[in-house]
Amino acid sequence: MADGALIDPVRPLAARYYTDPAIYERERTGLLSRTWQFAGHVAEVPKPGDYFTFEIAGERLFCIRGRDGVLRSFYNVCQHRAHQLLEGAGATRTITCPYHAWTYELTGRLRSGPNLRKVKGFERDMVCLTEVKTEVFNGFIFVNLDPDAAPMDVWYPGVRAQLRAYVPQIDDLAPLEWVEIPEACNWKVSVENYSECYHCARNHPTFTTGVIKPETYNIQRADGYVLMHTTECSALEAMSYDIDLSANEHAGEYRSWFLWPLFSFQVYPGNVLNTYHWRPDGPDRVGVWRGWYTEGGYDSEVVRRLAQQDRATTVEEDIRLVQSVHQGLKSRGYSPAPLVLDPDEGVNSEHSLAVLHGWMREALDEI
Ligand code: FES
Ligand SMILES: [Fe+2]
Repeated sequence: MADGALIDPVRPLAARYYTDPAIYERERTGLLSRTWQFAGHVAEVPKPGDYFTFEIAGERLFCIRGRDGVLRSFYNVCQHRAHQLLEGAGATRTITCPYHAWTYELTGRLRSGPNLRKVKGFERDMVCLTEVKTEVFNGFIFVNLDPDAAPMDVWYPGVRAQLRAYVPQIDDLAPLEWVEIPEACNWKVSVENYSECYHCARNHPTFTTGVIKPETYNIQRADGYVLMHTTECSALEAMSYDIDLSANEHAGEYRSWFLWPLFSFQVYPGNVLNTYHWRPDGPDRVGVWRGWYTEGGYDSEVVRRLAQQDRATTVEEDIRLVQSVHQGLKSRGYSPAPLVLDPDEGVNSEHSLAVLHGWMREALDEI
C-alpha cells in the first residue's frame, strides 16, 4: 500500500455550522459570552466620567472612566426595572436612569432615587450595576462577559510585548478613522477568509503587489488562541505608499495577530497599526470594522490613503468572496472537499483553517 493511503484528508466544517440559527445561538450564549471582545480605545475615554456604549453577544454594555481613573464596564441596564442607562458616548458626573431617575456612581453603586427613603428595609448597598471584566491591552479596551475568564495574557501569551516591538509608538496612538463593512455571511466565513492567503494571489492584486510579498506569507499558530501572520513588504519601488525602513527594525515587515475569536491587530509595513474587528449579527450577517490609528489621532495623508486603498481593493474583493461562500454553504449541492494542508505551510496552504475549525468545534463542546 502506498504511503499515506490510510490517511484521511482533513475536511472543512459541515455547512450547518455556518447556516444553522441554533448553532449561532449556542455561539452567542457560549463562545461570544466567555471570550475577550474588543470594546473601544482608551483615547475615547481620557477623563473621569467619559463613557461609550457598545454591544457584545446581544448584550448592551458601557465603559466609563471613574473618578479614580479606573476604566470599568457595566451591563447597560438599570437595576430598578431594567431600562437602558446610557446611549451613544459622552461625559457625565453620575449615571442617571431616564425612566425614574435612579442615580448611580461611576463605580456602579446606587447613589439615590426619588422617594427611596420611604421604602421600608431598603438599603442603598443592596443595589449595584453589574460589572463586566475589563482589560486594557496596549491601549485597546477588551471585555469578557465571563466573570471567571482568564486574563488576556493567558489567552494570548506574549502578544502584548510582540505588538509593542512592532508598534513602538503604541501608547501614543488614537483612532484616526473607522471603516464599517457589512457582510452578508456568517462571522466564521469572514474570519476564515481573513485567516488564509491561499486566495490572495488570484483575488488581491494590489495587496500582493503593492503591500506584501506573497511568497513570504505564512500563518502560524502561536501560543494560546492566536494565529500570527508574517510576511515581508513588497520591493520598495512597488510599494503603494512610502515607508521609511530606517524608522524601526520591523518597518519592512507585515505582521498580524488574530486573537480568537473576533479581533486582529495588523501592522502594515511602516509600523502602521490597523485592526480588524468582527461583530456577528445573527447567523447570516457580520459587521467588519477596520480601525486605523495614528499618534494622537492626528491626520495622516499616508494612513488615510492607505485606508481608502484597503477599502477599495482588499476589503471590496473579500466582500464578494465571503458572500458567495455563504450562499454556497446553503446549497444542497455542496459537500465539503479536503482542505489544502501543505506540511510545509506557506501561502498556498489552509493549515490555519484546521486550527480555526478545532477552536470552533471546541466552542460548541464538540471535541
Ligand atoms: S428603570 Fe431605571 S429608574 Fe426605574
Ligand atoms: Fe482576502
